[in-house]
Amino acid sequence: MSDKQNKQLVYMDHSATTPVDKRVADVVYETMLRHWGNPSSKYTRGGEAKVILEQARERVAEMLHATPAEVYFMSGGTEADNLALYGVMYRAREKGVSETLVTTAFEHSAVLKTAEFLKKEGFHVVFLPIDKGGFVDLDVLEHELKKGVSLVSVMHVNNEIGTIQPIETIGRLCQDYGSLFHTDAVQSFGKLPIDAGSVHADLLSCSSHKIYGPKGVGALFVRKGLNLRSFARGGGQEKGVRTGTENMPGIAGFGEAVQLCFEEMKTENDRLGKLRDRLWSGLQEKIEGEVLLNGSMENRLGANLNIAFPGLEGESLLMSLDMDGIAVSTGSACSSGSDKPSHVLLALGLDERTAQSSLRLTLGRSTTEEDIAYVIEKLSGHVNRFRAMAF
Ligand SMILES: Cc1ncc(COP(=O)(O)O)c(C=O)c1O
Repeated sequence: MSDKQNKQLVYMDHSATTPVDKRVADVVYETMLRHWGNPSSKYTRGGEAKVILEQARERVAEMLHATPAEVYFMSGGTEADNLALYGVMYRAREKGVSETLVTTAFEHSAVLKTAEFLKKEGFHVVFLPIDKGGFVDLDVLEHELKKGVSLVSVMHVNNEIGTIQPIETIGRLCQDYGSLFHTDAVQSFGKLPIDAGSVHADLLSCSSHKIYGPKGVGALFVRKGLNLRSFARGGGQEKGVRTGTENMPGIAGFGEAVQLCFEEMKTENDRLGKLRDRLWSGLQEKIEGEVLLNGSMENRLGANLNIAFPGLEGESLLMSLDMDGIAVSTGSACSSGSDKPSHVLLALGLDERTAQSSLRLTLGRSTTEEDIAYVIEKLSGHVNRFRAMAF
């Protein structure tokens, strides 16, 4: 029985994670049961696994217009972000060059907390401000770059508000001023076309579970010739950048998920953009009183809607929707559980109460027109009821 038959389940939290595609799950299962060899082994079974490993690498590379040698498998976006920042900054320290890292105030915690740790380690870290629309201030970035920077890390698509940063311009600026450029592309990889060359990315992080692949696997693109300081010691897999026996079922599934996104990207983006717009206009029509869009609608991922309901608690709306079988979030999955307002919404200039009145709804492959109608009906109903009770 599918989730939808079981209970009316409308999943609108695809930025937190995505359900594994059946076609991907089949590949994971096959790899576990039939191709369980160690890709480092010299005999035939090892060779078979190696072929699967390299095919997945080719698929990730193709998605990025990169070469397979530039793709390193990781345990996910978090590890890729950590390694990018540590790897470059400790190498910079060894070489005696600039110890400045520039990032933004609204990065995912995988970058933000790593940057904060590096700051405690004595590195100079600059957090760029974000404007009201949800975009990095490029003038401030250029001003910082002029002072000498080793690494700039700016995310491609923000996980909470879906705004798309102009990474081509950022990458070019970094190149002009001699800084390396890392982008956390966990929310855009497989959803938007990315050419690592034309965005002048030196490092790029991506993750499998945001694109209908298994959890616990991702990749870091590292431009050819760039030498990262690595921390783990072991058998030297992934050319020593990420040592340890590879998560073969995960990697094989990731490769399959990438291939499916590659084939379906354009049609899926258009479809989700239209559904999201219908959701937004339906909510505006039915909700009595204020409902505010967080971040700009321009240059935003089609699947994302993040809205504030001033005077209400996002958390109460989330719980009410959950009773209706609708899954949404109040912020990123990694920060839920904390009752602090979202650092992303605060970085946009929202006050704490408005930030806490917000919900994130993110659409995906399973989203249908009926889901949109159902969410409009239920969410507007709860908002209007809570507001009526407040008076
Ligand atoms: C922008 C961004 N970066 C990094 C991550 C972490 O990726 P993973 O869950 O694969 O560790 C996430 C996950 O939510 C994310 O949205």
